[in-house]
Amino acid sequence: MPHADSTPPDASAANDISLAPPPHAHLWPDTAQVDAAGRLLLDGIAASALVQTYGSPLYVYDEATLRGQMRAFRTALASRWPTSVVAYAGKAYLSPALCTLLLEEGLELDAVSAGEVGLAVRAGYPAQHIHLHGNFKPDAELAYALEAGEGGVGRVVVDSLDELDHLAAMGQARGRPIAIWLRVNPDVQTKTHVSIQTGHADTKFGLDLASGAVDEAARRAASAPGLALLGLHAHAGSSLFDTAPVAQVTKTLAELAATLRETHGVTISELSPGGGVGVAYTPEQRALAPDDYAEAITAALRASCERLRLAPPRLIVEPGRAIVARAGVALYTTGPRKVTPHTIFVAVDGGMGDNPRPALYDARYHAALADRMTEPPSETAQVVGRYCESGDVLVRAVELPQARAGETLAIPVSGAYHLPMASQYNLTPRPAVISTAAGQARLVRGRETLDDLTRLDL
Ligand code: LLP
Repeated sequence: MPHADSTPPDASAANDISLAPPPHAHLWPDTAQVDAAGRLLLDGIAASALVQTYGSPLYVYDEATLRGQMRAFRTALASRWPTSVVAYAGKAYLSPALCTLLLEEGLELDAVSAGEVGLAVRAGYPAQHIHLHGNFKPDAELAYALEAGEGGVGRVVVDSLDELDHLAAMGQARGRPIAIWLRVNPDVQTKTHVSIQTGHADTKFGLDLASGAVDEAARRAASAPGLALLGLHAHAGSSLFDTAPVAQVTKTLAELAATLRETHGVTISELSPGGGVGVAYTPEQRALAPDDYAEAITAALRASCERLRLAPPRLIVEPGRAIVARAGVALYTTGPRKVTPHTIFVAVDGGMGDNPRPALYDARYHAALADRMTEPPSETAQVVGRYCESGDVLVRAVELPQARAGETLAIPVSGAYHLPMASQYNLTPRPAVISTAAGQARLVRGRETLDDLTRLDL
């Protein structure tokens, strides 16, 4: 992994006795502090000093928070269900450095493309611990994933009958069955943005339960020598704060496992109710705690197994956002402040190119001026990006001291679904990424350059 060629800012502030947690500490990484001068420190390093060294926009990931979240989920599950697995959903954010942490902390990986599989395998992550999802896995990507690393990915999650038949043929041709799960559409309603609901009846994802597609898939899989049907999977949706939908999904999957045992004689030994644990983005929100999530799922599974006389399956959960969101902070440099009769705009040097979530989902965020964390706010500002679109708004309304041009503005809870969804819109380079650990900053992804923007043009 590349290292910074410039000297990282020093962490001497970490020894300052007058350090305090930042306002709304539950939105910031575990190591975030404010020093006596009112500066935001990330693992002891001033956020504005990071921008001076590495430029902006800059994404900073705090390793202590990443490890802490990984352990919180592992412990919450393992203490309640010994044969549980936490498989991090890599679509939320993936990097070689993160793969190393997943390996060290004992997490498996949910991937949705040959790209995600390839990045992980190249970083030394074992392919056998990867589950491949996706409603359409192009042939070349499937072929790559089945051979990646040593022996290919551990599980393929089948999303349609067409895919099942295709995989059965592939498994037979290679003379070794492919280990599969069936992705079930559980038909549950969730209270979240319509674009991130996935478990309702009218979704493109999964095999439909009501119409008999799941039953047909199990029937075909049970008689296909190229397939080994091991598990059932469903994902209710993302950003869930209520545990009822995941408990319901777990119960539905257990009942389905019992039915498939009766009708087709198949033994389902793995169940996955997906991911979707909600996090707090704004001061008034509270994250769904790993313990509450684990308790809801394992209680539902335990009750179902007893009632249906099912042998306890391996339980696989797939949190993405909840592992990485709060570990990541986006740092920008402020530009013009513009006062209109309706709105005070503060422009920053990033925007929808590095964070399209507000434009896509009307997502809400908090923001702070990194060197004036304790100064009382004087106005309600709208933080806008530098892209040529009116929808390029990062924070619709936030209380801030009056921003001057050239300050560092920090947006917390930026670690999930920003960089993986980032674009080069307006031919603007994507940001650099820093990792902080033990008081040291390390460049883990360089900033794109004009050469990167034009390299593939012929
Ligand atoms: N498992 C499956 C099968 C999924 O489809 C997803 C997310 C996850 C796990 C992880 O969900 P999480 O724990 O991160 O909520 N771009 C949207 C989120 C899309 C989520 C898609 N699937 C956003 O920025 O909110």
